[in-house]
Amino acid sequence: MQVLSMAFFLMMIVQAVEAKPKYIGAAKCASCHKSNYLAWKTSSHAKTFKVLKPGKRKKAKRLAGLDPDKDYTADKKCVKCHVTGYRKKGGFKDIKSTPQMAGVSCESCHGPGSKYAVLHDEKMYGFEKREATDLGQLYGADDETVCLQCHANKESPFHEKLDKKYKFDWKEKLKVRKAYHPKPRGKSSFSF
Ligand code: HEC
Ligand code: HEC
Ligand code: HEC
Ligand code: HEC
Repeated sequence: MQVLSMAFFLMMIVQAVEAKPKYIGAAKCASCHKSNYLAWKTSSHAKTFKVLKPGKRKKAKRLAGLDPDKDYTADKKCVKCHVTGYRKKGGFKDIKSTPQMAGVSCESCHGPGSKYAVLHDEKMYGFEKREATDLGQLYGADDETVCLQCHANKESPFHEKLDKKYKFDWKEKLKVRKAYHPKPRGKSSFSF
């Protein structure tokens, strides 16, 4: 009896773990959101893994008391805000094994997509926000904490106290669409 309930208990755990959405990568989103993908590709979020390399943004690093010639691309204190899904399922591990997850991509702001991408596919224009959030989709324009995972965060060397230009006024920063992708011109952002 005890063995049985133990087995049942383990099964529940396995299911709970499986139930968590995984990171699938920007290329998967690109298959349906091509224009957003192409715009994002040129944004600073997409390229921000590179600033961790030696010799990049020397002035800013010096200002923050960092060593401009040091390689920070494998530094646990840095990587998580410059990649997608650090140490989470499907997310960034290191630049060798998961190069496609380097940089701040779709799922950093929209949540890990393995489940809601299926919803988008199945229901197209017919889904409710609530259904999407239940599957792990995040809405950075409704919820400041999506951006605060990285911005105005005590763990970031680049914050308001270092220089006023790093102040994060959420509503204002949301307007900087070149930092991620423009608003769709038509009603839909869906394009092949
Ligand atoms: C199989 C196609 C498909 C895939 C894959 C897909 N989507 Fe979508 N997505 C859609 C469609 C269709 C819509 C609804 C039409 C629209 O809003 O333009 C949508 C809507 C959205 C919306 C707006 C949601 C809302 O409530 O207004 C966001 C944000 C989004 N997708 C992000 C993503 C991200 C991020 C990924 C990758 C993790 C992804 N999608 C993968 C087809 C897809
Ligand atoms: C908690 C998240 C977080 C962590 C941890 C973090 N960063 Fe960043 N980093 C950011 C954000 C957010 C910005 C953008 C700040 C802005 O422009 O307002 C940024 C910007 C930068 C920049 C560009 C600054 C400029 O003005 O050009 C560099 C370089 C950088 N980070 C390096 C690092 C290094 C090195 C570490 C580790 C010592 C690190 N970051 C840790 C979130 C983080
Ligand atoms: C830095 C954060 C950020 C990144 C990175 C990002 N987005 Fe968005 N996206 C947003 C915000 C904020 C909105 C406004 C609506 C919301 O709250 O989700 C949005 C809206 C959308 C929409 C709905 C239409 C629109 O533009 O309002 C789609 C579709 C979408 N994003 C897809 C993507 C895809 C695909 C990627 C990656 C190629 C991506 N996004 C990367 C922040 C981001
Ligand atoms: C996973 C971490 C992360 C998340 C989540 C995130 N950002 Fe960023 N953001 C960064 C980093 C790192 C930079 C620095 C880019 C660089 O200079 O290389 C940045 C830069 C920016 C910039 C400056 C871009 C420029 O070209 O000057 C804006 C604006 C911005 N983010 C807005 C947002 C908004 C709005 C959200 C939420 C919808 C958001 N970010 C979510 C990490 C993040």
